Amino acid sequence: MIGSAGSAEKVALLTEKYGYDAAFNYKDAPVRGQLPTAAPDGIDVYFDNVGGDHLEAALDAFKDGGRAALCGAISAYNSTERTPGPDNLTNMVTRGLTLRGFTVGGWFHRLPDFVADMTGWLTSGQVVFDETVVDGIDHAVDGFLDLMRGANTGKMVVRVAQG
Ligand SMILES: NC(=O)c1ccc[n+]([C@@H]2O[C@H](COP(=O)([O-])OP(=O)(O)OC[C@H]3O[C@@H](n4cnc5c(N)ncnc54)[C@H](OP(=O)(O)O)[C@@H]3O)[C@@H](O)[C@H]2O)c1
Repeated sequence: MIGSAGSAEKVALLTEKYGYDAAFNYKDAPVRGQLPTAAPDGIDVYFDNVGGDHLEAALDAFKDGGRAALCGAISAYNSTERTPGPDNLTNMVTRGLTLRGFTVGGWFHRLPDFVADMTGWLTSGQVVFDETVVDGIDHAVDGFLDLMRGANTGKMVVRVAQG
């Protein structure tokens, strides 16, 4: 499993805490150059939170029959103009790739399965996570802007009441 993050501290967390086999800082050099170094034999599956440069790099690196789950495209959220799509979509044809988008809302019917599986993984330590907590609804906008800047480590959470 290979991860990408935007600071040396986050890259270290990926391999030392979250269980990734390799990781790189996407701000150090183009992802298209870094991903093949981390995965010289190619990749089978890509979970896309970023779009743009990350999706293009994945499309380059896919093995035949590769699959992507398209969750988000944060690299484009602050764009003021329409951004062109990947320049290598034809790899979908030649390598038989599958790209499928989803939203959480479309899968609520599987929530009980998710809760059961994730409870087990969290309890066993197979999945670990961090949170960055912003206190008070008045600071929700600051928290959102910080998320877009990458100031959070792990899930950005706004605490509206003390538990
Ligand atoms: N499909 C759905 O139903 C669904 C639901 C919720 C969220 N999402 C998507 O899931 C993704 C993550 O959302 P989240 O709320 O969990 O946020 P998050 O991962 O807690 O925070 C977003 C992170 O994105 C990174 N980032 C910002 N600009 C970037 C860029 N240009 N290229 C690469 N990374 C960048 C920042 O970390 P760095 O320091 O590493 O840059 C930031 O910490 C987003 O794409 C969001 O739209 C999808």
